[in-house]
Amino acid sequence: MQKWIESAVAAQTRWTERLFSLKVEADIAFEAGQFAKLALDVEGERLARPYSFVNAPDERPHEFYYVTLPDGPLTQRLCKLQAGDRVYLAPRPAGFLALSEVPAGENLWLMSTGTGIGPFLSILKTAAPWQRFKQVVLVHAVRRAEELTHRESIEQLMRKHGEQMRALSFVSREAAAGALPGRVPAAIEEGRIEAAAGVALSAEKSQVMICGNPEMVADTSAALARRGMKKHRRRDPGQITVENYW
Ligand SMILES: Cc1cc2nc3c(=O)[nH]c(=O)nc-3n(C[C@H](O)[C@H](O)[C@H](O)COP(=O)(O)OP(=O)(O)OC[C@H]3O[C@@H](n4cnc5c(N)ncnc54)[C@H](O)[C@@H]3O)c2cc1C
Ligand SMILES: NC(=O)c1ccc[n+]([C@@H]2O[C@H](COP(=O)([O-])OP(=O)(O)OC[C@H]3O[C@@H](n4cnc5c(N)ncnc54)[C@H](OP(=O)(O)O)[C@@H]3O)[C@@H](O)[C@H]2O)c1
Repeated sequence: MQKWIESAVAAQTRWTERLFSLKVEADIAFEAGQFAKLALDVEGERLARPYSFVNAPDERPHEFYYVTLPDGPLTQRLCKLQAGDRVYLAPRPAGFLALSEVPAGENLWLMSTGTGIGPFLSILKTAAPWQRFKQVVLVHAVRRAEELTHRESIEQLMRKHGEQMRALSFVSREAAAGALPGRVPAAIEEGRIEAAAGVALSAEKSQVMICGNPEMVADTSAALARRGMKKHRRRDPGQITVENYW
């Protein structure tokens, strides 16, 4: 039987109608990019799902960034929690979307849709990407401009890291100032993403981490494969490291 850590909600932020950040106090260690299992008791059963840490490993409280699904058994309950409410965490975080899994390269691309930006914010708040890569590009693709959350954290990172960091936003379902239109795979195919970042995207120079919508992960991986890039495996090194959220 898995033992659970009983934790208290520190705060809940509502970014949009459907996007939330749950902050949780818990004594749990993890590597940036990993996820924890969050759980609630529902009708006598412990209902658990994985969520990526958004905070850096040395920051507290922990932050989990999630989207509520209309009939989602856990997210419909998580979004009702308030400071002081109880939530359970599985004691051992897991996952391979961590920089320790990524080989050396000249530049690092972090490509996300929706809440998939979370683990990349955690990674960017650590020293490792800045020590290991000459340039780091954060890509966040959403449907609507209001879903471009965590702007303050991103701006803080940009101020801290200057020319070493680039941040690109995609907004696909409305025109948005400062954001690229459309989807990430098409922008890769058309060379628009490199032009916007001013950073090379190639098998020789780049490592790419991708997180979020599994169709976006697949289509982006395919667009990168057409540029000679392949999935990274410990025994067969490549350039692409991914995590699917569903
Ligand atoms: C490794 C990993 C890390 C994850 N980290 C996060 C995270 O940081 N933030 C987050 O919001 N979710 C994350 N998820 C998804 C999360 O675990 C839940 O599946 C999600 O919150 C839905 O839970 P639910 O019980 O409300 O609905 P479920 O019954 O679990 O989901 C209903 C259906 O919705 C779809 N779905 C699941 N998650 C999403 C999603 N995020 N966006 C769109 N459709 C989805 C799936 O098709 C699923 O079958 C992660 C999943 C994995 C595997
Ligand atoms: N956001 C909402 O208002 C809303 C409303 C109702 C339900 N939902 C549900 O909530 C969940 C999460 O929604 P979300 O908006 O966070 O995430 P999402 O549907 O994954 O959309 C995020 C971004 O990913 C893009 N995308 C989708 N498929 C792609 C692909 N194959 N290749 C490249 N890019 C792709 C979307 O572009 P496109 O816009 O071109 O698809 C959008 O820009 C989904 O299950 C969705 O059905 C969301």
